[in-house]
Amino acid sequence: MEITNVSEYQEIAKQKLPKMAYDYYASGAEDQWTLHENRFAFTKILFRPRILIDVSKIDMTTTVLGFKISMPIMIAPTAFQKMAHPEGEYATARAASAAGTIMTLSSWATSSVEEVASTGPGIRFFQLYVYKDRNVVAQLVRRAERAGFKAIALTVDTPKLGRREADIKNRFTLPPFLTLKNFEGLDLGKMDQADDSGLASYVAGQIDRSLSWKDVKWLQTITTLPILVKGVLTAEDTRIAVEAGAAGIIVSNHGARQLDYVPATIMALEEVNQWFQT
Ligand code: GLV
Repeated sequence: MEITNVSEYQEIAKQKLPKMAYDYYASGAEDQWTLHENRFAFTKILFRPRILIDVSKIDMTTTVLGFKISMPIMIAPTAFQKMAHPEGEYATARAASAAGTIMTLSSWATSSVEEVASTGPGIRFFQLYVYKDRNVVAQLVRRAERAGFKAIALTVDTPKLGRREADIKNRFTLPPFLTLKNFEGLDLGKMDQADDSGLASYVAGQIDRSLSWKDVKWLQTITTLPILVKGVLTAEDTRIAVEAGAAGIIVSNHGARQLDYVPATIMALEEVNQWFQT
């Protein structure tokens, strides 16, 4: 059957993937109110089309941190892509390059930064969580720099992993044939405790809950890469992020996978944007 609407991918994924994998990708946190709202909010924002304008040639190119992209659409980081397909993050990297846009690789990817870089040219950013062991963080950042990644997207909405009830019911673990490739070969210090199958939940438990604006400053001392603060939902935090030296912010509610009952990202974007205009 020919796919004619992007929403059909979800139904096909549901049929093809093991339940544990599908539920991990598809579910939001707790009551999934924000998950519903993320999509529903778009139905309240309607087009207001103007007519009789020459659209025979259109240009959707834009720039992000000075990098030209073909359209104002980028690929957000999502973890464990090889759980969905053996090509996993490689395929995403190739698709992003072919489309002329930027991919952000999850630090919980099942392919390493070097493997993704080896797929060919492309502008790529690296998503980062800050762990209690800062040495692990420094090694991850250095690894991304060496692999030619162009920015760090620091996730700040995950002091504790969201309570995703489907994962709890399924007793989610990463399939044994997959690993968190960016952690392989690092000196994991105290983090080096879990066996492979439990690594995913173990690593999640190592995220530093004391993370604060001080650490955004610290990150700037260990890398020259621009830092994007990912997970901003308010005008107030936008102002603080800019003052703290962030090169940019990513307005995000983490695909509704973290704190439930926060506004849809598209609504938060409106608030943040209004602040920029004042
Ligand atoms: C990882 O960032 C997730 O939301 O599962």
